[in-house]
Amino acid sequence: MSKDKILVIGANGQIGSVLTEALRGTFGTNNVVATDIREAAGHEGPFELLNVLDAKAVADAVERHGITQIYHLAAILSAKGEQNPLQTWDINMGGLFNVFEVARAKGIAKIFFPSSIAVFGADIPRQMTPQNAVLKPTTVYGMSKSAGELWSQYYFLKYGMDIRSLRYPGVIGWQSDPGGGTTDYAVEIYHNAVKEQDYTCFLSENTILPMIYMDDAIRATLELMDAEASKINVRTSYNLAGMSFSPSEIAATIQLEKPNFKVSYAPDFRQKIAKSWPESIDDSAARNDWHWKPKYDLSSMTKDMIFQLQKKYKLFGAL
Ligand code: SER
Repeated sequence: MSKDKILVIGANGQIGSVLTEALRGTFGTNNVVATDIREAAGHEGPFELLNVLDAKAVADAVERHGITQIYHLAAILSAKGEQNPLQTWDINMGGLFNVFEVARAKGIAKIFFPSSIAVFGADIPRQMTPQNAVLKPTTVYGMSKSAGELWSQYYFLKYGMDIRSLRYPGVIGWQSDPGGGTTDYAVEIYHNAVKEQDYTCFLSENTILPMIYMDDAIRATLELMDAEASKINVRTSYNLAGMSFSPSEIAATIQLEKPNFKVSYAPDFRQKIAKSWPESIDDSAARNDWHWKPKYDLSSMTKDMIFQLQKKYKLFGAL
């Protein structure tokens, strides 16, 4: 049995809930302490309420459980963050500093901090955006992630802390719902298709964005964290790619399985955010350093999403 004790902060979120299960599979159910600001049903293992803005509570949880690794996933996402920019900054940066400072004081061995394609903005090549492209994010969420990347590198350089990070593309999964992102449409669209409801997309039909299937996103996280420290050459955050597509392409792929499914388009403020982001990502640093390779493309993801969601809705008697 592993000697590692993991703390997941934001364990009820879209990625956190699935990652917690995966970590429990690797490290043992009782060695992964799930925490979130809200209660949620369905945790098969230790769970407690934790507000990451309460530094003392974070330190106390680390102490009580003998934590050796922290996965800090709590943040306000791109679209929701624009409703209250200063509060978003305070939450995203305040949470990060609390985690890094507690980790420094307690000698935490490894920390995971998720970054995002939202760190990119103007003046980048939008196709195959390189690892070292200039970062000029235009959302407060993207600004907090790009500052967070630099702070990750700073704590590594100054204190030798083993902090690792991925720039997730839009994450698509059947297990959990996204909350307040610009890429959320690519999850919602599957739910509507399976429920045989038309879908109105909040991005325009030709808006291409980088995306990744949840299975690949989780595997990337575990592989990054499992790699030897000497292989991690990027201490800000790794570009990570899965696939790229537009709303009309995902709609056409779904229609192969669900021919009656209809999509219309009513772009809102999120269109502008999407347009500031890359269309595709060059993740060769991740491929070279720790052998990253995605398994899912749009077609295989669509088949699995529809299969899994159909099963899920039937289980709850909703189909
Ligand atoms: N999926 C996120 C968002 O749309 C990107 O990190 O905000």
